[in-house]
Amino acid sequence: MANQTKSVPAARPFLKWAGGKTQLLGEFGKRLPAELHEGKITRYVEPFIGGGAVFFALNQRFSFERSYICDVNEELFLSYRVVQRSVKKLISELETLETAYLSRSEKKREEFYYEVRDGFNKKLPEIDFRKYKLEWIERAAQIIFLNRTCYNGLFRVNRRGGFNVPFGRYKNPDILNEDNLNDVATFLKTTTILQGDFTQCRKFVDKHTFVYFDPPYRPLNPTSSFTSYSKNGFYDKDQVRLVDFFKELDGKGAKILLSNSDPKNEHPDDTFFDDLFSEYFIERVPAKRMINCNGARRGNISELIITNYPVHTK
Ligand SMILES: C[S@@+](CC[C@H](N)C(=O)[O-])C[C@H]1O[C@@H](n2cnc3c(N)ncnc32)[C@H](O)[C@@H]1O
Repeated sequence: MANQTKSVPAARPFLKWAGGKTQLLGEFGKRLPAELHEGKITRYVEPFIGGGAVFFALNQRFSFERSYICDVNEELFLSYRVVQRSVKKLISELETLETAYLSRSEKKREEFYYEVRDGFNKKLPEIDFRKYKLEWIERAAQIIFLNRTCYNGLFRVNRRGGFNVPFGRYKNPDILNEDNLNDVATFLKTTTILQGDFTQCRKFVDKHTFVYFDPPYRPLNPTSSFTSYSKNGFYDKDQVRLVDFFKELDGKGAKILLSNSDPKNEHPDDTFFDDLFSEYFIERVPAKRMINCNGARRGNISELIITNYPVHTK
């Protein structure tokens, strides 16, 4: 997104996250509501925060009085909370992990990776995600470490919540980026971080709010599993629930932008979203499919951008 209007930290996502929207920031930037440019919007709400690419980009451009971010993923929630509350200690924990990792040979690095992963998974039953504790700091450092050194930089868990991504062979993984973590912490000072279903954001939305929705993609085909960011799946009934929520927030006068994969990429007759959002503004923009287990299907696709306000891109 261009046109930075103030000098602010250049924070960017501190975790690599499936479905990250960095590649679409330019398209979103052209489609922001006029009220945002006019300074009439004071709140930002992002109910499916993931890696937060849009949250960070928008906070660099606009001064929101307060932001509210939410995700159902507990480990993601824990990581954001630790950056918000204990960034110094987190940096020191990560430094220890980084030094231990980089000082080893490739073979030993792999062993170290699995040691950290096993320790992280064994500790899960003891973690109370509802109450901030000092032990969260070590866990957040492990999450960032695993995210930076695992195969493909994914965060994937099995049904019991165990992190199961194998080791990734990187020559020089960027494990600790101290400046970025400090910049992220600065943005999080004015942010409320929530864990759970997207609907809990409702009480924070008013007519001065801009809401960005980036829900898990609707699977392109029945075998595709890109929506498994967490133990909880996101099914068509949830996409429908989201449309009802979109309408509810529209009724409150909020400005809303939603993006999703376009089912027409695979099935030209699939009008699922066109039907559900028929009373709103729907655009299709080109995107590159980044994560796909089926290599043959990488390439150009279109992404849906749906708004409850007219968009003038020229
Ligand atoms: C497409 S990703 C968001 C990507 C993000 N915009 C980025 O740039 O990295 C969707 C997110 O929705 C979360 N999620 C899944 N079901 C949810 C629910 N019912 N309520 C809130 N978040 C949910 C997932 O954990 C995942 O992080």
